[in-house]
Amino acid sequence: MNQPGESFYVTTPIYYVNDRPHIGHAYTTLLADVLARYHRLLGVDTHFLTGTDEHGQKVAQAASDAGRSPREQADATVVRFQELWQKLGITHDDFIRTTEPRHTAVVQEILSELYERGEIYADSYAGWYSVGEERFFTDKELVDGKDPISGRPVEWLEEKAYFFRMGKYQQWLVDYIENNPEFIQPEHRRNETLGFLRKPLGDLCISRPKSRVSWGIDLPFDADYVCYVWFDALVNYISAIGYRRDDAGFARWWPARYHLIGKDILTTHTVYWPTMLHAMGLPMPKTIFAHGWWLVQAEKMSKTAGNVIDPIALCDKYGVDPLRYFLMAEMTLGQDASFSELGFAERYNADLAGDLGNMLNRVIRLIHSSFGGALPEPGPSEAVDQELSELALAAAAEMQQAVETMALDRGLQKVAEVVRGCNKYFEQTAPWKLAKSEAEADRVRLGTVLYSAAEALRIASGLLYPVMPTKMAAYRRILGVAGDEAEPHLDQLKQWGRLPAKGACGQLEGLFPRIDIKALEKELGLSAEAKPSGKSQAKQAKQAKQAKKDKQAAENVVIGIDQFRQVSLRTARVLEAEPVEGADRLLKLQIELGQERRQLVAGIAQHYRPEEVVGRTIVVVANLAPATIRGVESCGMLLAAKVGKTLRLVGVDGEIDSGAEVS
Ligand code: MSP
Repeated sequence: MNQPGESFYVTTPIYYVNDRPHIGHAYTTLLADVLARYHRLLGVDTHFLTGTDEHGQKVAQAASDAGRSPREQADATVVRFQELWQKLGITHDDFIRTTEPRHTAVVQEILSELYERGEIYADSYAGWYSVGEERFFTDKELVDGKDPISGRPVEWLEEKAYFFRMGKYQQWLVDYIENNPEFIQPEHRRNETLGFLRKPLGDLCISRPKSRVSWGIDLPFDADYVCYVWFDALVNYISAIGYRRDDAGFARWWPARYHLIGKDILTTHTVYWPTMLHAMGLPMPKTIFAHGWWLVQAEKMSKTAGNVIDPIALCDKYGVDPLRYFLMAEMTLGQDASFSELGFAERYNADLAGDLGNMLNRVIRLIHSSFGGALPEPGPSEAVDQELSELALAAAAEMQQAVETMALDRGLQKVAEVVRGCNKYFEQTAPWKLAKSEAEADRVRLGTVLYSAAEALRIASGLLYPVMPTKMAAYRRILGVAGDEAEPHLDQLKQWGRLPAKGACGQLEGLFPRIDIKALEKELGLSAEAKPSGKSQAKQAKQAKQAKKDKQAAENVVIGIDQFRQVSLRTARVLEAEPVEGADRLLKLQIELGQERRQLVAGIAQHYRPEEVVGRTIVVVANLAPATIRGVESCGMLLAAKVGKTLRLVGVDGEIDSGAEVS
């Protein structure tokens, strides 16, 4: 939690300029933007940094593929990120490119100093080198003699190299992580790093010979080498805010409140970076927060998987703010989330076109028809009015807490409850009936009801402002929010009665036009059965009955070994588990299957709590056709033994890698 008077410095990873950005990149930057905007709304001194990682083999390779120099590659690609951030309404205070002299010079100074102090030393290095991954692997790490990440061939290399004495900080780091529970979040990522640190920590090779990789920052003490791209990149978080250049600026922002990262870059941020900072004598960032991945049909969205979603196309089709809202509301921080255009459209229709847009229409229409568009003055308050105001004010407090505890989706749910509360309030007070009455008492009551509903929406829209700044500014104008409050401050959202009575409300603009789901399904080539509609649920029940019959029949059938061999059974490690909303028997699991990650849905929720399965090695049918279960993608099936009401997961006797064949 931010202490009074403390600044809020938030960073994103700096993105490689090897390709154009996708929704995954957009997500981390949006998350940082929303956090920065909430902190500004709280009146906290805020600094938000993003940028690009422009050195190293990945960028050099992309440049050579495109037939240009690495610098041309960086210059051409950085624009894609900058354009996207502008389009998405990102309010970063600074954008750093690692090729800028303000960064390269600081990296060189750090290298020189650490070298002089003996924290960096020369030695020889031998191992299996993968050009694709730009790193060495040990014998044990190879899979079928190939790079375990890309599956490409590796070559044996032996060369002089420079090392950072990372290993000597191992115990210090373990102690630091253990004594500072906030340092790595969420908890399961903290455990992952502590698990990694149970094995001996070696020193970090921080050099690359120019003969192999020439696109990097020169090592100041050896002209034949450039700096390893990660050692260079991580320094951006301090070079950008004036480390060694502007002491006052640096002291204002460091230590960072959050380094936001995807879970794919946990080790570099929670092992390399802290030990580097410690060697430099600098304090640790307060929290390194790793969010999950955006998956498309259970696979990580990535260029390699060929399943990237273009954020620009979605913005052009549906608008920027709905996309911002969806990404923030859909992902529970720390867990993976699935992206589908249909899922987006359904949520948009329910939350935005439906609840939020609809409620504004109902309130404003009545204000126009009954009060000529001037917000009525509230009369005496009744218990229902009180309830609504309490709900809205509680949401303001809860949103603040949600921001401080990185539970944005929960905060957004609270706001949605306010909007639904308004709806219920309308049903209870029936203003449309009051509007038809000639009695003065009813007119006064109508004024109170419309004022209260508008107030609740003022608070809800203010709380949503950091997520949907453009739409919420328009929403608030329509509500008649006073000019200087259009961009809200949290204090104002914790007070009831700030809307100026007699103030003019705007005209309705159709802020969230409904998406035609049928037309979209057709456009996406999706059949009705793909969705968990009432109809398909009936179909699923029929299928389940059939499956039961098949199972009984199967017990009497003898199969040949060839038939059995068609089933690929493998071990898998459960990385994450969570309940499936609205389905009390199901758990959604993220599993590791060798080098692959997958999602599967299992009917074990009545037998195992999520935390009981995380970390287990289970057995799965790996080649089962993917299915959508209650709207959630499931790729594979786990094995469990069942008798009566008892169910036990099938496991293995002792330790074995995930992905191992079970036969
Ligand atoms: N250049 C390094 C980071 C250096 S930071 C000092 C890098 N760059 S990257 O371009 O590959 O971006 C990685 C980041 O993009 C992830 O950590 C995550 O924040 C975001 N994402 C990329 N794909 C993603 C998903 N499919 N889902 C969510 N975010 C992911 O690694």
